[in-house]
Amino acid sequence: MAEVVAGGAAHWDRVHRRRDPTETSWYEPDPASSLQVLGELGVDPGEAVIDVGAGASGIAAALLDRGFCDVTALDISAAALQAARGQLGARAEQVRWIEADLLAWTPPRQFQVWHDRAVFHFLTEQRQRHRYRTLLADAVAPGAALVMATFAADGPVQCSGLPVQRWDATALAAELGPGWDVRVSRRVEHHTPAGVVQPFLYVGARHVGVPRQ
Ligand SMILES: C[S@@+](CC[C@H](N)C(=O)[O-])C[C@H]1O[C@@H](n2cnc3c(N)ncnc32)[C@H](O)[C@@H]1O
Repeated sequence: MAEVVAGGAAHWDRVHRRRDPTETSWYEPDPASSLQVLGELGVDPGEAVIDVGAGASGIAAALLDRGFCDVTALDISAAALQAARGQLGARAEQVRWIEADLLAWTPPRQFQVWHDRAVFHFLTEQRQRHRYRTLLADAVAPGAALVMATFAADGPVQCSGLPVQRWDATALAAELGPGWDVRVSRRVEHHTPAGVVQPFLYVGARHVGVPRQ
């Protein structure tokens, strides 16, 4: 049996196998907040989207529904991707699936839209966030859109047994650096299936092409 490293593939496989996707704390029946920010950034269905740490989120289905035809979903957990594919049924063939640890992944191409809901906040160490920023800069095309949702400053202190880094709008914009023009910052109260309120911060930004730090 694979060793369960905190935050590693075995940890996340175990998390995803333990419950139905609709019973996880991060489940949302409709990715309305992400779609709203994508709209505010003027994202077009012709643009190539990657959803990192996709889990079994409904965002891929929602994008296909809206005519997006270049959708990639990446997750460290094979179990998560299996659940996601199962939910999409025959339409799963319209999505590119990548099983990879984001921080060890080399993007094979560039994307025009980067979506991250509830993944960045697991990066509690500066070196992890530096790697993420480097990856992000390599993976996106000039002018790309970024939608990132993290636990807000008064959000939960952990998720799935892992500690998280909580963010306010100013700190997250500073963390992203001068290469990103933050155009949307919004607090959203997520209601978990168990009825708990989790404050999230949604940020929408455009890549302005400043060389990465
Ligand atoms: C809290 S869940 C959020 C899932 C999805 N984004 C959503 O909003 O429903 C975090 C997801 O990130 C994935 N994940 C965690 N660390 C990862 C990493 N280093 N690389 C890729 N995926 C990762 C987990 O398997 C899990 O599916």
